[in-house]
Amino acid sequence: MTLPQQNSGLPPPPADALALSTQLNALIRREISAAGGWLPFARYMELALYAPGLGYYSAGSRKLGAAGDFVTAPELSPLFGRALARQLAELVRQGLSDILELGAGSGVLAATLLAELAALGSLPERYAILEVSADLRERQQAHLAQTVPHLADRVHWLDTQPGSMQAIVIANEVLDAVPVHRIRIEGSAAQEMGVVATADGYAWACRPAGAALAAAACAQQLPDDYETEISLAAPALVADLGRRLERGVLLFIDYGFPAREFYHPQRNRGTLMCHYQHHAHADPFLWPGLQDITAHVDFSAIARAAPSLDLLGYTSQAQFLINCGITELLAAVPAADAARYAPLAAQAQKLLSPAEMGELFKVVALGRGVTAPLLGFSRGDKSHTL
Ligand SMILES: C[S@@+](CC[C@H](N)C(=O)[O-])C[C@H]1O[C@@H](n2cnc3c(N)ncnc32)[C@H](O)[C@@H]1O
Repeated sequence: MTLPQQNSGLPPPPADALALSTQLNALIRREISAAGGWLPFARYMELALYAPGLGYYSAGSRKLGAAGDFVTAPELSPLFGRALARQLAELVRQGLSDILELGAGSGVLAATLLAELAALGSLPERYAILEVSADLRERQQAHLAQTVPHLADRVHWLDTQPGSMQAIVIANEVLDAVPVHRIRIEGSAAQEMGVVATADGYAWACRPAGAALAAAACAQQLPDDYETEISLAAPALVADLGRRLERGVLLFIDYGFPAREFYHPQRNRGTLMCHYQHHAHADPFLWPGLQDITAHVDFSAIARAAPSLDLLGYTSQAQFLINCGITELLAAVPAADAARYAPLAAQAQKLLSPAEMGELFKVVALGRGVTAPLLGFSRGDKSHTL
């Protein structure tokens, strides 16, 4: 997502949206009560984002794009998907004829990729989408039927990961939307930060961390009075994909860092962030279901999650897109045609600039049985390591 404005007084939600949030609050409070008064933050985040019919991604409001809460790279510019298509085309030419996209949002990336892969003569035989939100699945179906009707028969939707696969798996800004645990270091011990109900909302409350969280915290050697996130679910998702991948590539694009930067002593309040109508703030308890909640990705944990796969590359989004030819795509539009060129140049600037998405966003590729180096990691800055 592009960097939003900082919170400067949020626009109040309309009454129908607040009614949905009230229903979701009732559900969350019932669950807190049934759990004895305390819920791990990861479960709160899961309900706030994915509770059927009520969670942020499951309810019907518009989330992505200028009219929503945030803008992702494929929503921002077709150049993103067109450049990425060149990486996918290289893999399709290596005989990988299935693409699986996780969390396809509004379907814009799928449509751009399919159109570009057709233009490159490298269409996959099948394009599967695994989407946890029923509402977004409907939006994806409508968008693909409208924009690439001649290619829509290649697309199908999955409810679960395939048993085994030879495929190119892609996920843009999905790992940051997977629920995280929050921990706090007190007196050298890891506490899990959970959620309790208060008279008018929720508050944080700590309990001693369980074995998995305590071990993950211990591995990072965090100082006292340090609060951060630990994701157990995102590496588990990658591990699951890795086990099923007979041959192919897992390609994740997201904002985040390697562990040494993620758990830097100065980042002592973590990376949790909420987005509401292009405002960013740090209160996950505000209007559950009406705002996005995300955390940055610990790419070291992602790379470690599937040890049987090769690490095929890790670099910044800017370097990856440049290697895939984004500047040539832009240069193909005559600068004299200002009406077409100017907006594309501004979009490329956002995707590539270190002050915008170019450096904060990273691309990591894990794979089995493919020829490396992959196009996106073939040249340039090698300073990104995990
Ligand atoms: C921030 S949006 C990104 C959407 C899109 N990829 C884009 O770049 O515009 C996160 C997406 O991931 C989906 N999602 C979250 N967890 C998922 C999971 N475990 N499997 C598949 N999709 C998931 C959400 O429903 C949503 O579509």
